[in-house]
Amino acid sequence: MLLINSPIEQHELFGFPVFIKRDDLLHQAFGGNKARKFAALLEMDFSEIDTLIGYGSAQANSLYTMAALAQLKGCQLEFYVDHISDWLAAHPSGNYRGALALGARVVPVDQQSDRGELSVADYIEQKILPARTRAIFVPEGGRCALAASGVEQLAKELADWRSTQEYQHVKVILPAGTGTTALFLSRYFHRNHLDLQVITVPAVGGIDYLQSQFTELEADASCHPRIVDFGRKYHFGKLYREFAEIWLQARSRELDFELLYDPLGLMALKHIRQQDPQACLMYIHQGGILGNETMLARYRRKYPGLCLP
Ligand SMILES: Cc1ncc(COP(=O)(O)O)c(C=O)c1O
Repeated sequence: MLLINSPIEQHELFGFPVFIKRDDLLHQAFGGNKARKFAALLEMDFSEIDTLIGYGSAQANSLYTMAALAQLKGCQLEFYVDHISDWLAAHPSGNYRGALALGARVVPVDQQSDRGELSVADYIEQKILPARTRAIFVPEGGRCALAASGVEQLAKELADWRSTQEYQHVKVILPAGTGTTALFLSRYFHRNHLDLQVITVPAVGGIDYLQSQFTELEADASCHPRIVDFGRKYHFGKLYREFAEIWLQARSRELDFELLYDPLGLMALKHIRQQDPQACLMYIHQGGILGNETMLARYRRKYPGLCLP
C-alpha cells in the first residue's frame, strides 16, 4: 500500500514544462490529499474506537477516504451530510457509491426530526457526540492540527527532491479547499528556510475565507501561502465551461485531473507561468479522480456541446 513517497514526474502542460507530484498514484482508496491529511489517523490506535464520524458533501472525496479508513481500522463510518440530492440517491455514483460499498453510513441531517435550525457541524456536536464515548470526530475536509504530520511528510518529500535540483526558484502550486494542505506545506518550507514558495487559489469560498482559514491554523502570516486572485469568485461545485475546457486541455493518456479543485489549480498554474516564465513549477496532484464520474455526468447534462469523455 503506497501511502508516502509518490513519484515526481515532468510533464508538458499547456506547452510548458511542469513537475507534478503524483499523490494521485498513492493508494486507490486512501490516496491523494486525504492520504496526507488522514495519515495520522491511519497510525492511531483504534482498539477503543467503534465509530469514525465525519461530515461534508455526499460527493466529497473525504467521504470515500474516511470509508476506506474505517474499513481498514475495523470500525463504522458515520458521515453526516446536509442532504442527499434526489439524483444521487437514484443514481449512486463516484465517492458516494464507493463509500456505500465500503460500508459507510451516510446520514442526511435534513431528514432528522431533532435538527431544528442546527448546521450539520452543530448537529453533530450537540446531538451526536455527547452520547458517543468510543468515537473519533474529524472536522470537514480534515481541517485540523491532526493533518499537520501527514502534510509535513509531503513537504519533506518535496524538500528532498528540491535538494537534488539546481533551479533558482521553485513555485509549488495547488488548489485549496480548507487551505490546510497549502498552509502546512508553506509553514514547513518557511520554518526550514527552504526555497520553495507555495501558491494556492481558493476553490471553496473566496480569498477572505481562505485567509481566515490560514490564520485559524497559524497566526504567523509570514508563513502563509501566496493566494492567486482572479478578481472574481467561483462557487464551489458549480459547473463553469472554462473549468471543463482547461480540464480537457490538461489531461493526457498518462495523467488525469479532477473536476472540483484542479480546474482552478490549473488556471493558477497558467497564470503563474505567464507572470514568471523562468520559474520552475511544481503542481501537487491531490487525487480525487473518483469524483469525476458524478461531475462529468453533470457537465454532460449542462454543456452537451462540449466534447467530454
Ligand atoms: C482533490 C482535492 N484537492 C484539493 C483539496 C483541498 O485541500 P485543503 O482542504 O487541504 O485545502 C481537497 C480537499 O478536500 C481535495 O480532495
